[in-house]
Amino acid sequence: MASAVVAAFSGVDAQAKVTAPAGARIFRLDGAGVTYAMGVDDKGYLQPLYWGAPLAPGDPLVSTDPVKTGDPVLVKAPGELSGFDPAGSVTLQEYPGQGEGLVNDPGIKTIFADGNRDLVLKYKSHSVRGETLVIELADINRPLTVTLRYTIDPDTGVLARSASVRNGDSRPVRVDQIASAVFTLPVSDDYRLHYLTGRHAAEWTKKDVAITPALTVLESRRGSTGHGNNPYFAIGKDGVTSEDAGPVWYGALAWSGSFRVSVGQDNLGRIRIMGGYNPYDFSWTLKPGETLDTPVFYAGYSNAGMGGASRTFHKFEIAHILPGGEKAKPRPVVYNSWEATAFDVTEIGQEALAEKAARIGVERFVVDDGWFGARNSDKAGLGDWTVNRTKFPNGLKPLIDKVHTLGMDFGLWVEPEMVNVDSDLYRAHPDWVLNYPGRPRTEGRNQLVLNLARTDVRDHLLGVLDKLVAENDIAFLKWDYNRNWTEAGWPQVAVQDQQRVYVEYVRNLYYILSELRRRHPKLEIEGCSGGGGRVDLGILGLTDEVWPSDNTDPADRLMIQDGFTQAYPVAVMMAWVTDSPNWANTRTTSLDYRFLSSMQGGLGIGANLDKWKDEDFTTASKWVAAYKTIRQTVQRGQLYRIDPPVRDNASSATMYVSQDKRQGVMFQMLHSSMWRDNPAPNHPKGLDPARSYAVSVLGGGALPDGVPARASGAYWMERGLRAPLKGDFVGTAFVFEMKD
Ligand code: GLA
Repeated sequence: MASAVVAAFSGVDAQAKVTAPAGARIFRLDGAGVTYAMGVDDKGYLQPLYWGAPLAPGDPLVSTDPVKTGDPVLVKAPGELSGFDPAGSVTLQEYPGQGEGLVNDPGIKTIFADGNRDLVLKYKSHSVRGETLVIELADINRPLTVTLRYTIDPDTGVLARSASVRNGDSRPVRVDQIASAVFTLPVSDDYRLHYLTGRHAAEWTKKDVAITPALTVLESRRGSTGHGNNPYFAIGKDGVTSEDAGPVWYGALAWSGSFRVSVGQDNLGRIRIMGGYNPYDFSWTLKPGETLDTPVFYAGYSNAGMGGASRTFHKFEIAHILPGGEKAKPRPVVYNSWEATAFDVTEIGQEALAEKAARIGVERFVVDDGWFGARNSDKAGLGDWTVNRTKFPNGLKPLIDKVHTLGMDFGLWVEPEMVNVDSDLYRAHPDWVLNYPGRPRTEGRNQLVLNLARTDVRDHLLGVLDKLVAENDIAFLKWDYNRNWTEAGWPQVAVQDQQRVYVEYVRNLYYILSELRRRHPKLEIEGCSGGGGRVDLGILGLTDEVWPSDNTDPADRLMIQDGFTQAYPVAVMMAWVTDSPNWANTRTTSLDYRFLSSMQGGLGIGANLDKWKDEDFTTASKWVAAYKTIRQTVQRGQLYRIDPPVRDNASSATMYVSQDKRQGVMFQMLHSSMWRDNPAPNHPKGLDPARSYAVSVLGGGALPDGVPARASGAYWMERGLRAPLKGDFVGTAFVFEMKD
C-alpha cells in the first residue's frame, strides 16, 4: 500500500502527557471519518481503546469495560474477576500471546525449545517510520518480539495492520498460529456479522448471523482462498445498520492461501475479530534470529451503512490495492470462446470467431484452455506450455496478427500452478507436485498441484511464462487455478519446515506474478480459479481483473455481482454474455437481458458467435456501443444498491454514479412478474440534488409515460422512476447526464 499515511497521528508524547501515569502511552490514528486508538496500561499490556467514528482531538481514551477506574483517562489493567477469569483472560489485548490464562483466539501461539508454551506480550517500544506506526511487543522474559504495524489512509480511514514475530533466542521457536491483526469492538449484544460464502458456480452468497459467544470462523483449509468463505467481514448493528445508514466495521485479508478469520464475543461480551494464516496444518519453526511476517489485514469503518462501507472500501482498493490505481485503464470488452468451443480451439476456428467478435466492437480476443501441449480434454497437457501444432500449425502468430488487424489485442489462458499426470512436465519431474512419498496423490479435474514453494518450480514457471509473453504479442493472461490442495507434503525439506508450504507457496506465486508484471509492464492479468475461487486483496494487488464465477446465468449473476461488490470493486469484476439456455441451470433468457446483466461489470462475450443470427449481431453491437458510453461510470464510479437482487425479490435495481456525479446509470431488472403488479418506482441515489440531469434509456428507446426528459437530481431521487417492465427476466437502464 504505497501511499497510505498515518494521518494526524496524534503526537504520542502530547497524548501521553494528558493521560499517562509513568510509562503509559496512547496511540491514536485518525483518517477520514475514523479514529483508532490503543493504549499501554499500567501493567504494560497494549490495550485496544477505540475504533469508530472520529473523536475530537484530545478526547479522553479510557480502558474498555468492564474496568471502572474512576479515572476517565487512565488505561488500566483489570484484576481477576473470579477464579475462573484471571486477569490474563480479562485484559483486552491488542495482540495477545497464548499464555497467562488467555481463553480466546490468540494473536500468536508458540512453543519454545524447552517446551514452554506460555507467551505473554507487553509493550516494549514504538516508532513512526514514514507513514507507519510500529509498535514492538516482547515476551516478559523470553527473547521473542512481535512487531505490529499500522497505517491509516487519509482519504478513506482504512487501516492496514500486520504483524511479524522474531525469534531472538539461540534455539528454535515453533509458531503454531499467527494472526495479522486482532480487532476489538465494545460490549454489545446487537452486532451482526455479514460475510460471503458459496461453492463453485455459486460464489458470493451474502449471509449474516448474530455475533454471540459461539465463535464464527470464516476459513479456508484448501491452500488457496477458496470458493467458500471469503476473507472479508462486515459487522453492523441489528435494526440500526441498513444499506444507507448506521455503523459498519469491515475488513479483508490480503492473502491468497489458507486463512482463518474468527468473529465472536468473549465471555465478557466484547467482540473480537482475528484474522491471519490458518493454523490448520500449519507451523513455522523460527530459526535463531529469524522473522516471520504476516499478510496485511485491511479494515475500515463507515457510519453510512453497508452501501457507504462498500463504496469507501472500493475507493481504497482502487487507489491502493489494484495495479495502476485510480489511473488504470477501464476493462476492455473481451471475447472468450470457452463456453462455446471448450477445448476445441483451432487457428481457423478462432480466426473466424475473432472476425465476428470484431464486428460487434470487442476490444480483446482471448483464447482459453486447449491451445497447448496434448490438451484435447482436461485429462492431459497441463504443464506443457508450448503451442499445440495440430491445432495451430503455424504457432500463435497468424492468429495474433489477425486479431491485431481486426483492431483487438490478444489474450491467452494459462494454468501455471497445475500439471496433468499425462504431461511431459510430470513425466520429467514427478517430484515437483505437492505429495507425501509412498502415499496416494489425489487428483482433482485430473490434475496435481505443483509445489510452488520449491524455488526450482518457481523459477521454471517464471521462465516458461516470461518466454511465452516475450515471444508472442500477448496483452493479457487469464491465470487459472482449478483445484484445491490435498496431501500437501513437501518432502524435500526438513520435517519441521514442511508446513511452511502454506506460506512459501503463496509468496512464490506473488513473486512470479509481480516479476512477470515487472518484466512486461503492459501485460494485464486476470485472476481466475474455477470462477471466483481465489479472490482476495492479495491477488488483487497483482491482477487487473478477476473472474467472479463460472456461473454465467444472467439472473444468478446479478446475485453473484451483488455479493462480490460488498467486498470488491466493479473495477475488477468481469461478466460475460454467454449462450442461452445457460449451462449452469438451463434457464433461457433474452440476449438483451444477458447484456443488461453483464454490463454491470467488465463486459465480456462468451457466446458461440458461429451460431448467432444477423439480429443477434445487431443487438450485441448496440449494447457494446452503449456500454462504452457508461463503462467508466460502471467500473470506476460509485455503486449504490437500490433494490438488491436477492432470492424471493421479484425485481432489483442498481445504480452507478461517476466520481464527478456527471453521469449516473440505473439498471432495473425484473426477474419475474407477479399478479399484474404495479411495482413502486426505484429512487436513484448519489446524484447531485442541486444539478439538472437529462435522462435517457440506455441503448435508445422512448422514456416511459410520465417521465420528463430533464429534472434536478433532487427530483429524480425523490420521485423515482420505473420502466413498465412485464414478463420474466427483462430489464432496462436509465442514463442520467448532468447538464450545465
Ligand atoms: C475454469 C475457468 C473457466 C475456463 C476453464 C478452462 O473452469 O473458470 O473460465 O477457463 O477453467 O478449463
